[in-house]
Amino acid sequence: MPTIVFASSKGGVGKSTSAVLLATELSATGKTVTIIDADPNKPVSDWAAHGRVPETLKVISNVTEKNIIDLIEVEERKSTYLIIDLEGSASMMVAYAISRADLVILPVQGSQLDAKEAAKGVALVKQQEKAFNKQIPFAILFTRTNAAIRPRTLKDVQSQINEAGFPVFNVEIYERDAFRAIFSFGGTLYTLDPKQVSSIEAGIANARSFASEALDRLIGIYGNTSQNETGLTTQPAEVA
Ligand SMILES: Nc1ncnc2c1ncn2[C@@H]1O[C@H](COP(=O)(O)OP(=O)(O)O)[C@@H](O)[C@H]1O
Ligand SMILES: [Mg+2]
Repeated sequence: MPTIVFASSKGGVGKSTSAVLLATELSATGKTVTIIDADPNKPVSDWAAHGRVPETLKVISNVTEKNIIDLIEVEERKSTYLIIDLEGSASMMVAYAISRADLVILPVQGSQLDAKEAAKGVALVKQQEKAFNKQIPFAILFTRTNAAIRPRTLKDVQSQINEAGFPVFNVEIYERDAFRAIFSFGGTLYTLDPKQVSSIEAGIANARSFASEALDRLIGIYGNTSQNETGLTTQPAEVA
């Protein structure tokens, strides 16, 4: 089943956060999901170690350059969705994971307004396309943006990326305390305590829209006209 890879040329852009949001949203629809934590710093394994991981979600740690391809092949067969979280640099592990992806998601931090980083991420994918002589679908995902404030500089970067012809997610991952909180407390947006964390519902709506668009992109790639059967729908942008 589909493999979705989160990659970027540098760390701290929201790969692990977005990967866990996607995985937990997909598992909330009852589908089985595996996350391969292929970052040596193991951020997703640390998240899972807090407990309250959904029953339908499995996290695989201890991933190496040597075993990653085998793990991908096994887990692709076992779970409805396979998500791979990578470290923010080029390595053999990154290359292997990208080469096996049905969709590479390239998070770019909207707040840092960096079109060059997006181009470097795309270059990582293009290199594997050449190496393996196949097309690897990808899309840029703006992260940590503000739903209400749309700085001119962000618009400039977005237009540069559009001019380059890179596909971009319509949904952005907004800067939200709830998205940080799942890494502090463990669990999912659904298990957070509203007394401790604000605007959980808005976070859920954002994560759900993201998951829905990711599935739509996979369906588009496969040329499959069947419905996005998880029932997830893309919501209009929320107000922060
Ligand atoms: N949408 C978001 N809202 C709030 N904080 C975020 C968001 N995305 C990432 N962060 C924070 O930014 C830092 C880097 O995010 P992370 O997902 O670990 O990036 P990466 O995996 O690319 O290194 C973390 O401290 C994380 O909590
Ligand atoms: Mg990470």
